[in-house]
Amino acid sequence: MAHTESGTTMSDAEVVDIMTDMTARLDQTAGAVRTNRQTMIDLASRLITLAQAGHPELADSVMEVPASRYTDPARYEAERHAIFDRMPFVAGLSRDVAEPGDYLRIDHMGTPIMVTRNRQGQIRAFVNACRHRGAALVYDDRGHSRAGFSCPYHAWSYDLDGHLLGVSCNASFGNPDKASLGLIPVAAHERHGLILVAPKPGVTIDWDHFIGPELDAELPHWGFDTVAASRVGPIELNGNWKLVLETFLESYHFNYAHRDNLAQYYNGNVNTVDMLGRHLRTATSLRTIQTDLPALPQDQWTPENYIHVKYVLFPGTILINTPQVLEFFQIMPLGVDRTLVRHGCYSRMDLTNPANAALFERIWESAHTVVQKQDFPYGVTTPHPALTSAALPGLVFGRNEWPLQILAQEIDRAVAEAPAPATT
Ligand code: FES
Ligand SMILES: [Fe+2]
Repeated sequence: MAHTESGTTMSDAEVVDIMTDMTARLDQTAGAVRTNRQTMIDLASRLITLAQAGHPELADSVMEVPASRYTDPARYEAERHAIFDRMPFVAGLSRDVAEPGDYLRIDHMGTPIMVTRNRQGQIRAFVNACRHRGAALVYDDRGHSRAGFSCPYHAWSYDLDGHLLGVSCNASFGNPDKASLGLIPVAAHERHGLILVAPKPGVTIDWDHFIGPELDAELPHWGFDTVAASRVGPIELNGNWKLVLETFLESYHFNYAHRDNLAQYYNGNVNTVDMLGRHLRTATSLRTIQTDLPALPQDQWTPENYIHVKYVLFPGTILINTPQVLEFFQIMPLGVDRTLVRHGCYSRMDLTNPANAALFERIWESAHTVVQKQDFPYGVTTPHPALTSAALPGLVFGRNEWPLQILAQEIDRAVAEAPAPATT
C-alpha cells in the first residue's frame, strides 16, 4: 500500500466511502462551478452514448511507439529544447499568490524561479538567485515576504519588482549601479485565475497564441479565481515524463487498476476526446449519468454533477475539474528517467463548513494515494526499467487510448518544428 505525504495509507474501501460522501454532499457545491451549460450538455450527451456503446471516442488505428522515445538521452534533450525550454507552464493559481509579497518557488523547470505579486497586484517572476553571489532568495515552496526579499547570505535586499534596494558594506562594492543589479526577470502572465510563467529569462509569453481562442473562452467557466484553500505535495518518480503524462490520458485502466475504488463510481473505458488548439480536453462520468439523465427532459439536466472534465495544457499541466475540487498536476522532467509531479488540490466547497473541510482533506489524500498506489507504479515506475533494459521494444496505444496517440504526435511535431539549438 502506498504511503502519502502525511505518511498515512488509505484503503480502497476508504476511497469508495469518500466517493459516496462526495455524491451525498453535492448540494454543498451547487453554483460553485460556473460551467458552460451548452458544453456540459454536449459532453453529457456524448458520454451517455459512449457508456451505452461501452467504449470511448476512438482513434482510427492502433499506434506503436519505440522504447527509445522514453529512454534515449538525445531524444530527452531534444524535448527539453523544443518544449520545456521554450513553452510557458502553469506555475499555480492566482490564489497561490493572492496578496502582495506572497510567493511560489519553482525549482524543477531548469531555471530556479520565484513568482510573486507586487504592491500594484501584478504578477512578477524572477530567477531565484541573488545578483551578488547567486544565493537563492526564497527557500520555501510557498511563503510571504511583504517587504520584499532579503538575501540570507550577505543581506542584499530587493523589492517586489526585483529592484535592488540595499547592498550591505556598499563601499566595498564601489557603490554599485543598483539599477543594473536587479533580480533577473522571467515572463509571467495571469488570466482566468491561472498563472503562466516562462521557463527561463528571454522566453516571452503570448497567452492568445499559446492558449488559443477555444480554451481561452472555456477556462473562465471553471472559476479558477474563486477556488478555496489548497493542499500541495510533490511526488518524485523514476521514469520518463511522457509515461507520467500517459497515465492521465485514458479511462481504459479504470476497470482494472482502479477496479476496487474509482470504478465503483466512474465509467471505465468511456471518455470524450477534444483538442482545443494543442491542448486536450477529455471528460469522464459517474456511472449514474446513463440512468439519471435520460430519465429527465434536457432542461432539467445537471450535467456538472456527473462529469469530470480534464484539461491537459500542452505538454504537462493537468487540471481535473470535479464539482467538489480542482485537482492540479504539473509534470516536470528532471532527466530522461526522473520526473517530479507537483500535485495540488483546490476546494470548490465552502471550507468554513467543518464537514466540507473534512471531506476536502479526505479527497486530497485519496487522490494522492490512488496515483501513487496504482497509476504511477503501473504506468511509470515499472514500465521504465523494462523499456531501459531494451528487452521491451516499445509500447502499444489502442484505439481506445486516442489521447495518448494525439499527444505523442503533438510532442513529435514540437520536436520536429523546433529551431536547432544555438551552437557555441
Ligand atoms: S549572495 Fe546574496 S548577498 Fe551575497
Ligand atoms: Fe488512474
